[in-house]
Amino acid sequence: MPSQHTVRECLDVISSEISGAAERPRREAELMIMERSQCDALWLMTNQDAQMQFDSVLQEWTQRRKAHEPLEYIFNRVSFYSREFYIAPGALIPRPETELLIDAVLGEVDPKHSLTLCEVGVGSGAVSIVLAEQLPKAKLIGVDISETALGVSAKNIEAFGLEQRIALRKSDLLEQVGESLDVLVSNPPYIAAGTALEPNLGYEPGLALFAGERGMDVIEKLMALTSGHAIPLFCCEMGYDQRDMVTEQLPDGYSVSFYKDFAGLDRGFIMKRIVP
Ligand SMILES: C[S@@+](CC[C@H](N)C(=O)[O-])C[C@H]1O[C@@H](n2cnc3c(N)ncnc32)[C@H](O)[C@@H]1O
Repeated sequence: MPSQHTVRECLDVISSEISGAAERPRREAELMIMERSQCDALWLMTNQDAQMQFDSVLQEWTQRRKAHEPLEYIFNRVSFYSREFYIAPGALIPRPETELLIDAVLGEVDPKHSLTLCEVGVGSGAVSIVLAEQLPKAKLIGVDISETALGVSAKNIEAFGLEQRIALRKSDLLEQVGESLDVLVSNPPYIAAGTALEPNLGYEPGLALFAGERGMDVIEKLMALTSGHAIPLFCCEMGYDQRDMVTEQLPDGYSVSFYKDFAGLDRGFIMKRIVP
């Protein structure tokens, strides 16, 4: 039953309820109230004694967050690379460190050149959308093995008006990609099977996270495909402890360099064909 409270009381109730799941419960309670009331932080600060309904929507959001569901899935919205994307369960919530994968690609590719780029594991579509915007002459292909993820990326690509630039396909790796590629990009699943995860990660699709005993199954296949298809450039996110395994698997005729994340940990690599 909805009940009338002050804004301050609603904040107190929500933050106390979600304190076991949220790192910053007060901040998240504020975000919920701002979202529900469509108000900004200034209104919230200056209207703590105003009356508001702790209605069924706020109650439902509180219970979902209390059960560790990420706020992004509750609001169906995520910020990434200074843009807002639609997000829903079944597609991985894009992470800040994946912005570095985009920067890695942009550091290697001249935006004035026409090229064909494929993203394997397109998920929400956020990476391909930003790359399409930054590389106006590129033709992009986004593939994913998950129909649900493809539904989310299709919605985002349409919202950004990029349907003519990004072709989506259901494909296991490059199986449905016949084009000759200049660039391969991926933030693949790279967590070792059986790794214990924080409870909120339990809401994200296993297909997006796990890749065999060492977390290397998809990365290794993509490295071999890069070489097999003679793709000149492959930029890939990886786990902080996978650098040696990537180096060991490096195919002949390719060089590899690594980039770090915001915490200074190895987070990805750039594999380039050595021009003879
Ligand atoms: C870590 S998520 C990345 C999603 C998005 N690109 C991002 O960075 O937020 C990995 C994605 O790879 C997809 N995937 C897993 N195995 C795949 C395969 N064999 N072929 C194509 N996509 C795959 C998953 O469904 C998931 O969408």
